[in-house]
Amino acid sequence: MRVVFIGDIVGNVGRETVKRLLPWIEEKYRPHIIIANGENAAGGRGINAAIARDLYDWGVHGITMGNHTWDNREIFDFIDDESRIVRPANLPPGTPGRGAMIVKGNGKELAVVNLIGRTFLPPSDCPFRAADELLPELRKRTKNVLVDFHAEATSEKIAMGWYLDGRASLVVGTHTHVQTNDNRILPEGTGYVTDAGMTGPRDGVLGMEREGVLRRFLTGMPSRFVVSEGKWILSGVFVEIDEATGHAQKVQLIRTDEDSWIAS
Ligand SMILES: [Fe+2]
Ligand SMILES: [Fe+2]
Repeated sequence: MRVVFIGDIVGNVGRETVKRLLPWIEEKYRPHIIIANGENAAGGRGINAAIARDLYDWGVHGITMGNHTWDNREIFDFIDDESRIVRPANLPPGTPGRGAMIVKGNGKELAVVNLIGRTFLPPSDCPFRAADELLPELRKRTKNVLVDFHAEATSEKIAMGWYLDGRASLVVGTHTHVQTNDNRILPEGTGYVTDAGMTGPRDGVLGMEREGVLRRFLTGMPSRFVVSEGKWILSGVFVEIDEATGHAQKVQLIRTDEDSWIAS
């Protein structure tokens, strides 16, 4: 099974990039299933129903979230009825939505789990124990499992990769918006990348306009961050999974931008 994971879609530029490049991704990687992180899809903060619908229309099969899950209040209207979006599984019990799902696409099934880290992020339950609880049940249904670990610290993400080696097909990090080049297959068959990177405006600071971010760094004064415009970057990960074992056979980085992309 071939799966493409698209890193944090940021704002309008990110959404337009997904719309424009999905046909190219489909032709180049021939994915059965496409998963995207949508925590920044609505103006950098959360997601709404219309945006989720657009992403599905353009070819995304499932959406993962992160620390910005609740930033757009519209999500409360639909997340409980939404089988194609996961928010971090290790949020407190009783939180709306779900932390794991089975995504279907092109005759294939992929279990998708979203976890959030605890280092340099608001408090949450233990992501490692949450994975321990979820994975056995999911793996009864399918051995093909993608885990989006939304975390800040590279150490926490690398530790999760080792912890889940042999139990997930791909552990892919999100949240830092900067792609890492440590894609590999761990000894027990789990594909791993510390961060998939961002899909959005290339020339801001992690997708936000430079001016506001610089003002805060230079003056220490509160400053409103707005999503940047301008040239785009698309970042993601391609994984090929042996469906019988759930092991990754190939893990490749996807990264292109407005100046380097040539439509084939
Ligand atoms: Fe993000
Ligand atoms: Fe995040």
